[in-house]
Amino acid sequence: MKIGTLQLDHPVALAPMAGMTDTAFRRLVKRKGGCGLVVTEMVSSEGLVRGIDRTLEYAEYTEEERPVSIQIFGGDPAVMADAAEIVQGMGADIVDINMGCPVPKIAKHHAGCSLMRDPAHAASVVRAMTDRVRIPVTVKMRAGWNEHEMNAPTLAKMVADAGAAAVAVHGRTAAQSYKGEADWTFIGGVANAVDIPVFGSGDCVEAGHVVDRLRDSGVSGVLVGRGALRNPWIFAQAADATHGGAVREVSAEERGRFLLEYIELLLNERVGEQRGFRHAAPGAETSAPAPARGRERWVINKIRALGSWYTKGLIGGSELRTTINATESIDALRDTIRTFFSVSEELVAG
Ligand SMILES: Cc1cc2nc3c(=O)[nH]c(=O)nc-3n(C[C@H](O)[C@H](O)[C@H](O)COP(=O)(O)O)c2cc1C
Repeated sequence: MKIGTLQLDHPVALAPMAGMTDTAFRRLVKRKGGCGLVVTEMVSSEGLVRGIDRTLEYAEYTEEERPVSIQIFGGDPAVMADAAEIVQGMGADIVDINMGCPVPKIAKHHAGCSLMRDPAHAASVVRAMTDRVRIPVTVKMRAGWNEHEMNAPTLAKMVADAGAAAVAVHGRTAAQSYKGEADWTFIGGVANAVDIPVFGSGDCVEAGHVVDRLRDSGVSGVLVGRGALRNPWIFAQAADATHGGAVREVSAEERGRFLLEYIELLLNERVGEQRGFRHAAPGAETSAPAPARGRERWVINKIRALGSWYTKGLIGGSELRTTINATESIDALRDTIRTFFSVSEELVAG
């Protein structure tokens, strides 16, 4: 499938997930195969424009993640256009607008899903950005604000008219948050309503779900969120299934190795340093690497966050989760993972 002139190798993308889809996680997902596009965590347009270090860190990516979409949030058309220009300057392939976040901290500032309540304003944000940048501008929205305001089809048309190259629809309302099921019939209705590609999002937690949605719902692409946190091989498995091949099985050892590799990438992340990153707005300061202990704590917290998803459905998963949450050092964390997943020393050393 294509977004503007950008050709994706696979119609399945890693959904943006704040706190989860950092550059290290995205790199590992890409290495497993089958993932046509990755989207960053949401990034503040204000923070980008002001050159705030933390914000820039969220927007960092490496070449192996390409194509990369940087998702920004905000509600001021001028600031969003400035931020889009910064994103383009960072070399991203796509700039995506968050119109789905229901969290009050975001939504109350005329950003996130509250943009859906004012479609004309939402379209003006898109227009300001498409007028400014050459890279495709895309929009991620929900079905609507609540069950009485399910206006995604109308909004999708308006943002397409304003120049958006694709939209993604999470088939729940903001009021639902994550309750109930994503409405894929409704998502299909949005796909029918517009000429630009529509990605569907919601509840694809197995490769079979991805394949079924691609075949049956009328969307051009699927975003996988929580399913990828549980099983980063879901993209490769969906590609296997789509091409009629045997769906690859993932051994316990491979699962363990994924976590160990994630730890190593996070430990060695050189935040704010130019290391193949194309980031940094002109004139923005770079942050010093975190002191070793602070870095370890950060990594432990990251593994706990991923662990809460990654251990779901595993035999003994809840005990593993409890152990990870009680583990206070990186060495002990590595031991716990090696033991649980029976990872041989040889593999760890490699
Ligand atoms: C932990 C978490 C963080 C999320 N953060 C974002 C975000 O930053 N931007 C966004 O557009 N959607 C965000 N989402 C929504 C997902 O992109 C996706 O639309 C939603 O989870 C439904 O898809 P899924 O069932 O495949 O997870 C987040 C979801 C989760 C679970």
